[in-house]
Amino acid sequence: MLAKATARLGTETAFEVLARARALEAEGRDIVHLEIGEPDFDTPANIIEAAVQALRSGKTHYGPSAGLPEARAAFAEAAGKQRGVKIAPENVIITPGAKPILFYGILSLVDPGDEVIYPNPGFPIYESVINYVGATPVPVPLREANDFRFDLDDVRRAITPRTKLLIYNTPQNPTGGLLGRADVEALAELAQKHNFWVLADEIYSRIQYEGEPFSILSIPGMAERTILLDGHSKTFAMTGWRLGYGIAPKPVTDMMAKFATNCNSCTATFVQIAGIEALRGPQDAVHAMVAEFRRRRDLIVDGLNAIPRLSCKRPLGAFYVFPNITKLGRPSKEIADLLLHEGGVASLSGTAFGASGEGYLRFSYANSQANIQKALDRVRTLVTALD
Ligand SMILES: Cc1ncc(COP(=O)(O)O)c(C=O)c1O
Repeated sequence: MLAKATARLGTETAFEVLARARALEAEGRDIVHLEIGEPDFDTPANIIEAAVQALRSGKTHYGPSAGLPEARAAFAEAAGKQRGVKIAPENVIITPGAKPILFYGILSLVDPGDEVIYPNPGFPIYESVINYVGATPVPVPLREANDFRFDLDDVRRAITPRTKLLIYNTPQNPTGGLLGRADVEALAELAQKHNFWVLADEIYSRIQYEGEPFSILSIPGMAERTILLDGHSKTFAMTGWRLGYGIAPKPVTDMMAKFATNCNSCTATFVQIAGIEALRGPQDAVHAMVAEFRRRRDLIVDGLNAIPRLSCKRPLGAFYVFPNITKLGRPSKEIADLLLHEGGVASLSGTAFGASGEGYLRFSYANSQANIQKALDRVRTLVTALD
């Protein structure tokens, strides 16, 4: 009944596990939610106020598919300032959340038979969309021994004359790993030498605990072959508002806008106005949120490392930990299921992010310190009871 191509479409397991956890809660079970990747904080009040004002002043109509001109200008200015580059409004496309940047971006650039390089473990939607468009997925493993960064020799080996696009994500979901300046410069050099495009997923760029973020856009010649993905979901605790954006050469933003016209028409106009306030208003809430994430990171990393047979690197960005559970001697999926059903902790199997995630779990620490402590106690109890 369904179209053949739909068999190639993947999914994001976090939403499935959330549904299973909610079903257990409906039966009266107490579950600690460490599965879904969204800040538990409320959206800052000034942003909500801007949206309410916009609604009251009639920002309730269609807008241009690429975004309101004033929003494109404000997003270009803020994204450029953050990365030390000049960005023109015509190079900005605003979408309902950042996911359409992946979907429209890949649809705009990649033909069937093209090869796309991407991280494994990595955000599962990359592989899903690559497969859906009939391109060849070329996963490159991220190894714990390399702090979950690309090994550049692996990347070099993955490149062929059919490589059309390389996707990377820093700070990274699910590992919390970071690509440093030298890594990004090396990827840019490869893209220029072998003439492929880059999709830089920088959605966690403002949730970095050490070092200065470095964007590929600041490398001469890269703006011409890069789609940069960013958005408000994580930085401003706005996941449910659906607001994201891409920065790309004009032919690409024009094509992505055409996909938007075909699919979502435009991004809600009052949400865009609120998004301008998020970027131009006070940033204290963002700083406070990142400081709290850092405390929770230390709590969960130290707690996991204190549990026999578990070990966990201290991530440098995002709000995920990716503990190594190989010493438990069971598949990650089995441990994640046991943790949910017997332990009362919702997490994701590392394999939800690709085959290279075997031997790991992903916990999102976007939850209160009290809940994280509760989860740690439950993980310890379950792990200790396993033979
Ligand atoms: C790496 C990565 N990219 C993109 C997204 C999509 O973000 P949004 O919720 O704005 O669509 C997410 C969300 O989980 C993510 O983790």
